[in-house]
Amino acid sequence: MEEEKKLLHIVTFGCQMNKFDSERIAGLMSATGYRLTNEVNSSNLVIFNTCCVRKHAEQRLYGRIGELKRLKKNNPNLKIAVGGCLAQSEGRKIQEKFPYVDIVFGTHNLNDLPQLVEKALVENTKSSLCETSSSVLDSKDLECVIRKDKHHAWVPITIGCNNSCSYCIVPYVRGKERSYPKEDIFEFVRNLSLDGAVEITLLGQNVNSYGNDIYGKPEFSSLLKEISGIDGIKRVRFTTSHPKDLTDEIIDNVSRYPNICEHIHLPVQAGSDRVLKLMNRKYTKDYYLGLVEKIRKNIQDVSITTDIIVGFPGETEDDFKETLEVVEKSRFDQAFTFIYSSRKGTKAETMKDEVKYEVKAERFNRLLCLQNQISLEENKKYLGRTLEVLVEGSSKKDSNILSGRTRNNKVVNFEGSFDLAHKLVDVKIEEAFTWFLKGSVV
Ligand code: 5AD
Ligand code: SF4
Repeated sequence: MEEEKKLLHIVTFGCQMNKFDSERIAGLMSATGYRLTNEVNSSNLVIFNTCCVRKHAEQRLYGRIGELKRLKKNNPNLKIAVGGCLAQSEGRKIQEKFPYVDIVFGTHNLNDLPQLVEKALVENTKSSLCETSSSVLDSKDLECVIRKDKHHAWVPITIGCNNSCSYCIVPYVRGKERSYPKEDIFEFVRNLSLDGAVEITLLGQNVNSYGNDIYGKPEFSSLLKEISGIDGIKRVRFTTSHPKDLTDEIIDNVSRYPNICEHIHLPVQAGSDRVLKLMNRKYTKDYYLGLVEKIRKNIQDVSITTDIIVGFPGETEDDFKETLEVVEKSRFDQAFTFIYSSRKGTKAETMKDEVKYEVKAERFNRLLCLQNQISLEENKKYLGRTLEVLVEGSSKKDSNILSGRTRNNKVVNFEGSFDLAHKLVDVKIEEAFTWFLKGSVV
């Protein structure tokens, strides 16, 4: 009898690190004979890679697992695995709530997944493995990856976080900051280049503190510079930058080396010094504004994006107005705005003076309105200019419409044939919108 095909469907929630982990899961499972499918209905293994940074992500995940109950009933051979940050923090709850989930695995147990799946298949038993100590980094982590995009690759340089922002659950689920040795990262990037990647994004919760935990304490600025010299890699991006650790050398390298893209993601989180202190961010409003000024002065055409939390416990209207002031003065190209959501085990969970939901929602809308207006104005500055675009692919709705990104991370849509996919092309900008630009190939 023909052996049943092993088809794997992965559902990814959350940040870029999770996107990378999903590519690694795809690599690990393909080594055991699985093939990826976009069709959940035809798969026989579904893996959820989860996020727990905000309550919303948790609720979305529960909805998606719930949808699989019927599928599992119709196909008892289907195996369901839940991994990543929420599995790490709420593994037991997931197993109780969804008894038909076969495997729960934590953020430190990715490498154990093939064995857990094998066990579920052979013994038909359920298993849960969520180690709590930070796993040791291994250069093999970087070897086994099936990339989603041919032209682009994620490159983790650190895992975990040593900061303790009072609202944030990441240090609890990802552990202490650990850096990959420089040589392992170089080797990985060289192989990516040979494999056709032209753009890479260096990843870490705080890339700027790279190297603090390893011998010789190599600095992020030097890693960035050396990586930008690797043959074939045309664009180097990096995220996320904690404002307190963004050094002059890093800014200088972005302005100096042509392959390093002019985009800095610099989460401000809040505007008032009082709230920044409660958040334990370790900088003031004036420091942040000074940093933005320095970046703009030194890097031509730089785009600065940010994350902002609205409605942190105790945030007053005056505090919020200072957030609006920072937004007005910084003129962010884009801001990812979030309503504060209390996370179990964090310091902020126990803080008093919770802001009422209606107040949070009203502030959130005001912030969004202001930022949308600024994003549009900033985008209009590019009208009439010709920008280099790395083509990502064609639009789902119209295959003649291509979409790509500029060096400073603006999305540009334009007409062209699919042959241009994954190539660098010059596009003249003719229309500007809040979220993207439109133009024509020159
Ligand atoms: N509530 C709301 N937003 C949060 N973030 C992190 N933790 C929380 C929380 N508890 C946001 C921060 C961070 C981004 C990834 O998610 O803005 O930079
Ligand atoms: Fe969370 Fe702060 Fe670390 Fe970012 S720097 S992951 S917000 S603790």
